[in-house]
Amino acid sequence: MSDARTAPAGAARTRSRPPPPMAMLAELTHRCPLACPYCSNPIDLTKASEELATEEWIGVFEQAADLGVLHLHLSGGEPAARRDLVELTRAAVSFGLYSNLITSGVGLTEERIYSLAEAGLDHIQLSIQGISPEGADRISGYKGGYDRKIAVAGWAIEAGIPLTLNAVCHRQNMDEIDAMIELAIRLKARRIEVATVQFHGWAERNKAALMPTREQVERATETITKAREKYKGILVIDYVPADYYSSYPKACMGGWGRVGLNVTPSGRVLPCHAAETIPGLSFETVRGAPLSEIWYESAAFNAYRGEDWMPELCRSCERKKVDFGGCRCQALALAGDAGATDPVCIRSPLRQHLTRETERYPATSSMGFIYRGR
Ligand code: SF4
Ligand code: FES
Repeated sequence: MSDARTAPAGAARTRSRPPPPMAMLAELTHRCPLACPYCSNPIDLTKASEELATEEWIGVFEQAADLGVLHLHLSGGEPAARRDLVELTRAAVSFGLYSNLITSGVGLTEERIYSLAEAGLDHIQLSIQGISPEGADRISGYKGGYDRKIAVAGWAIEAGIPLTLNAVCHRQNMDEIDAMIELAIRLKARRIEVATVQFHGWAERNKAALMPTREQVERATETITKAREKYKGILVIDYVPADYYSSYPKACMGGWGRVGLNVTPSGRVLPCHAAETIPGLSFETVRGAPLSEIWYESAAFNAYRGEDWMPELCRSCERKKVDFGGCRCQALALAGDAGATDPVCIRSPLRQHLTRETERYPATSSMGFIYRGR
């Protein structure tokens, strides 16, 4: 279980014990009927035969609760592809975890939703890809997906499960944000999360077709501001803006090894969903070590924890406790070094180059997507 990693220089210096994680994302499976072009799951997906068994997941949930995790996000792939989803939910709830199901809706029936409600599921986060069956199904690569989502939203509300809509926005649907918010109101969601696409995993392959334009991003910000005012007290609107057009990076994962952890379908424990792209890091598995040991002691979790790993630019910056130096996986993808300042930062020497490259993407909104497995 010793997945040794050459930690960045200085990473092991004066570090106090971190607080326990607040949230855990359990990627129950990578199986998924949809083929969203912005999928952040890795290019090589975990096979069904390698997935943790029911009892193994239940053991992980129990360990998570003991460690101090409060929120459990049941995700995938499509978590409804797991036949034991209701059983897993019931177990999570029995350990006192707040359970959130992150789903495309495909694979959920009315009966299954009521079983999840009876098992104590606290919340459903339902993805939407667009505002019409044609547009949404083209993006997700799954015919009939839109209609199923509308049905699932209705069943969730009837079963008394609070609903959030989750819309990943990109060049080909970003002008529909207004209508997506209207849809959330019609479906009686309490919240909508509008998140601009990130380029991890499969999404990287569709970057040219997904990258929004500066004008779209500005319009989106305006739309969100007006909608927040209009629907105050009725709908909560979360917005993750496009960091390629921002001055500062986002605090990815709330800081590496600081707030949350991800467990892959086969049980590898990651500080973020794209961490496996970072060369030199290796990850322990729940089959080989206790979750608490992985969180507190493993080389991967300690690699970019705290401030010791930071380049001087970040270490001497007043925002280091706001964004924690940005995203390590994005730094790797754009600067070739996971230990660099996130190139999205206006102080990064790479920022101007990034802006020029970003504005070079074509503005057309009909470019075809590359779909996984097709
Ligand atoms: Fe954040 Fe580093 Fe940029 Fe400061 S220099 S704003 S800490 S990324
Ligand atoms: Fe890995 Fe941001 S996705 S640190």
